[in-house]
Amino acid sequence: MSSTDSRFNFIVTGGAGFVGSNLTLALQERFPDAHITVIDDFRSGNFKNLSGYRGDFVAQDLATFDWHKQFGDGTFDAIFHLASITDTTNHDQLEQVHDNVESFRRILDFARPTKTRVVYASSAATYGSATEASVESIGAAPANVYAFSKVIMDNIATRAAAELPDWIIVGLRYFNVYGPREAHKGVPASMVYHLSRQMKVAQRPRIFKHGEQKRDFVYVKDVVEGSIRALDAQGSGIYNLGSGQARSFNELVDVLNKCLGTNFQPDYIDNPHAHYQNFTQADLTNARSALGYEPRFPLEEGVRDYMQWLESQLGS
Ligand SMILES: NC(=O)c1ccc[n+]([C@@H]2O[C@H](COP(=O)([O-])OP(=O)(O)OC[C@H]3O[C@@H](n4cnc5c(N)ncnc54)[C@H](O)[C@@H]3O)[C@@H](O)[C@H]2O)c1
Repeated sequence: MSSTDSRFNFIVTGGAGFVGSNLTLALQERFPDAHITVIDDFRSGNFKNLSGYRGDFVAQDLATFDWHKQFGDGTFDAIFHLASITDTTNHDQLEQVHDNVESFRRILDFARPTKTRVVYASSAATYGSATEASVESIGAAPANVYAFSKVIMDNIATRAAAELPDWIIVGLRYFNVYGPREAHKGVPASMVYHLSRQMKVAQRPRIFKHGEQKRDFVYVKDVVEGSIRALDAQGSGIYNLGSGQARSFNELVDVLNKCLGTNFQPDYIDNPHAHYQNFTQADLTNARSALGYEPRFPLEEGVRDYMQWLESQLGS
C-alpha cells in the first residue's frame, strides 16, 4: 500500500484518547479524503480531544465488540489499534488482561480474512527494568499487569504474522509520550504535563528522590509520525518509538524552568512504588530502517511546542 493515496478507509481505536486523538487528527489532515472511523468507549478518553474531527465514531467496548455486525463486509486499508486500559496502577489482572487482549484478538480475527493491515500500540513497559537502550529482540520482563497484557498482544501478533506472511501487523512500543490532549488522563498523564502544571501555579515540581531516574520522553508528534509511517512498512514487526534519548527528571525540571521562565528547585519526595522503571531508552535502529522513523523533537523542542499549545488552550 502507498501512503501517497488519499482515498483511504481507516479505523482508529482509542481515538478519544491522548495518542489516538492526535493520530486521528493528523490522519485527517494528511489524507483529507480518507474515511475515518473512531471506536472508543470513553473509559478514559474524552470527546473534547476530537475537536475539529469530521469522521464517524462508534462508542463501543472493543473487548465485546462484534466487528462483523457493525461493519458487515466493509473493508479497511488499515486499523490503528490504540485503545487500551492505560492506567498502569490498575492492578485488576482480569480486567487488564481480558479487556486489552480480547479487544486485540477480535481485531486480528476481523482483519485476518482480508489481511487488513493492523498497526497497534505496544509499550516500552514490556521491557521492565533496563539499564541501557532497549532493543526489540531482548526478552520481555513485564513488571505490572498492564505490561503483561501488552506482552501477550505482542505474542499473538507475532504468531498471527508468522502464520500469514503477506498480512502486515506492526506493533509500536511507545516510550514515555507527552504532548497535547493528554490532560483527560489525570494521574497517568505524563510527568511533563504534571510538573508544568505545578510550576504554572508557583509550586515546586515534585519528583521522586533524587531526580536522576531517566526516561525516554517522546513528543506525541513524533510517535504519530512513526505510526503513520507504519502504513508503508513492507513487512510485519515490532518497533520502538521513542526519542532515542534518556533524560533525567532533574533535566526535565531544568528544561521546564527555561521554557516557563521560572527557577524552581525540585521538591524531592519518597518513591512509593516497589516496581519502578529507573531507566527507559529506545534503541531506534530497527524503527529507522523499517519505518524510516526519525524523531524531530528532542526534549527541549517538544516541551517548547507543548507549552505553547497549552498556553493557546487557555480560555478556549
Ligand atoms: N501515553 C504513553 O506514554 C504510552 C506509552 C506506551 C504505550 N502507550 C499505548 O498507547 C495507546 C494510547 O495510549 P494513550 O496514552 O493515548 O491513553 P488514553 O487512555 O488517553 O487512550 C486510550 C483510549 O482507549 C479507550 N479504551 C480503552 N479500552 C477500551 C475498550 N475496551 N474499548 C474501547 N475503547 C477503549 C479509552 O477510552 C481511551 O480513549 C495505548 O494502547 C497505550 O497502552 C501509551
